[in-house]
This record gives sequence, structure tokens and C-alpha cells, in this order.
Amino acid sequence: MKIINRPRRLRNSSSIRSLVRETVLNTDDLIFPLFVVEGEGIKKEISSLKNQYHLSVDKLEAEIKEILGLGIKAVMLFGLPDEKDELGSEAYNDNGIVQRAIKEVRRIDKDILVITDICMCQYTDHGHCGIIDHNCTVDNDRTLEYISKIALSHVRAGSDMVAPSDMMDGRIQAIRHTLDENNFEHVSIMAYSAKYSSAFYGPFRAAANSAPGFGDRKTYQMDPANSDEALREVELDLSEGADIVMVKPALCYLDVVRRVKDSFNTPVAVYNVSGEYAMVMAAVEKGLVDEKQIVLEQLTSMKRAGADIIISYHAKEAAKWLKEEEK
Ligand code: PBG
Repeated sequence: MKIINRPRRLRNSSSIRSLVRETVLNTDDLIFPLFVVEGEGIKKEISSLKNQYHLSVDKLEAEIKEILGLGIKAVMLFGLPDEKDELGSEAYNDNGIVQRAIKEVRRIDKDILVITDICMCQYTDHGHCGIIDHNCTVDNDRTLEYISKIALSHVRAGSDMVAPSDMMDGRIQAIRHTLDENNFEHVSIMAYSAKYSSAFYGPFRAAANSAPGFGDRKTYQMDPANSDEALREVELDLSEGADIVMVKPALCYLDVVRRVKDSFNTPVAVYNVSGEYAMVMAAVEKGLVDEKQIVLEQLTSMKRAGADIIISYHAKEAAKWLKEEEK
């Protein structure tokens, strides 16, 4: 049989393959998450996340220098406070753990992009992402006041971009309003717009000590069965002033990423979450898969689906591999 246009002709050699490659993963696309804890001299591997660490503020310098040396230009900071209470008040303490971490990263390098996760779940004693009312449910509107206070406190400490992950309705507008009122018009917002209620956050909850003490997050996080709803969430967040929208987790939701990318001309981020990372690392440890190949395949798939930005615990390793390939 004679087939005139044989796609295979374009796969003959590695130089043809690279000539016609549609998607290229760059270190510039990557954001590396860091978990900062109280105390001194702490660099302790997180039990649920191999090769990821709880770091005290004084250990950030070596880490940030390593990250920059690999060519990664953005970090996402999570703070783990010692004290938790009903209102998550450490989250908006100007001298709290994440605020001190932001200042330290800023001191180490003035150009690195500092992104901070805005949420209450690591800071509340009940582990929910907001203020609990007398019916034991999260009070959306009261939570917005707190979320705005947290964002302002991070930005005052030097955060370049805030990333609200709580999924409360109206949070982008509330944060944008507060930041603008305080002359932080230039600070951008990356909205966790399509955040699914997912089993893939399991290892993070151990890492951030943020599992809900009662109930679950189904009332405010999205049902994995829905994708039209994701588009509505994205549309609302954009109309409220989000600069970047996020889909989270990544791998099970690449169809959602593609729909978002096709529907809105806006930068799209994906969060390659803890469970996705932990599953790969467990398989690597067992010798079942090749770490470099499987990670680069996954990260490239996220870009192919339409993600411009990838938040990933694999970022450092990926940056090393990408550097090797340049040579
Ligand atoms: C909420 C937050 C979570 C993650 C990022 N921000 C946990 C959650 O919503 O339960 C999960 C990230 C991951 O699993 O790697 N503060």
C-alpha cells in the first residue's frame, strides 16, 4: 500500500524529531515548592515525599542558591507554624513563619520570583481552609476577610505573587481589592481556579500537617467528574482579576487544562501534586520505571495539554536533566 504522507518520515532521526517537535519543556516553566518550618538548623526529609525537605529559615540560603544554580527562577512557599488556632491567626502574623521565609528569600536573591500559597488549612487547628461557623461548615464570606489579610501580610513581606488555594467564592475579588487599596496593584494573583477534591493531596497533608480534623473539603473543592464547572470557575476568577489560572492536580485533569487553554487567552498553571510525585517516586524506588524518562514524559504532557507553568516537586531534577540535554 502506498501512503503518500507518512507521518513516520518525520521520526526517522533525532535531528528530524527535534526539528518538528511541537512541545518543548523549559526550566523557565517550572516552579519549585518549599516547606518552611519554625526552628533552626532543620533540614529534614518529609516522610511522605522522598527528597523533599522541611527547612528552617536559616537553611533557605543554600537551598535557594542551589535552585537558582539549576536555572529555576520561581519558588512557591508553604509555611508550617508551630501554633494553630481556630482563626489560623499565624497565617496573617507579619512575623509568622512564611513571612520570615519570604523576607529571607528576598534577602538571598532580589530577583527570584516568590509565590506564596494563601490558605488557612496549615494554620487552623481544625485543618479546614476557612473559618468554621456554628454549624461546623466553612463560612465563605467571613473567610474572605481572613484570606485578604493573609495575602496582604505576605505581600508586605515581599511576596511577588499570591496563590489563593482555598476555593472560597469571591476570594480573587476580595484579595485584588485589598491589594489595590494598599498600593500593591503590581502584585499578581495566581488563582487555584479548578481545584479538585482529590486523593492526590494525601502526601501533602502529611507534609504540611493539614488534614481536616473532621469532615472533608468536598463542599468547597470540585467534583472530579466535572469539567464544565472548571470553565465557570476559571471565568469567574478571571473576571475578578486573576492573572494566572490553575488546574490542580495535573495528570488526571489534562483534558481540563486543554479546555481552559482553548477557552481563555490566559496563562494556565498546573500543580503536579504530592500524590502524583509520591507515586512516581515509589515506582522508581521499586525499579519499575525510569525516573528521568517518566518525569520528563509527564511534565511534557502537561505542557502539551496547554500548561504554561508547572508547579512540581520534580522541578530540581527536571532542571538538571534539561541542562544535561543542552550539552
Ligand atoms: C492548600 C493546599 C493543598 C495543596 C496545595 N495547597 C492541600 C489541599 O488542598 O488539601 C496540595 C499540594 C499537593 O498535594 O502537593 N493549602
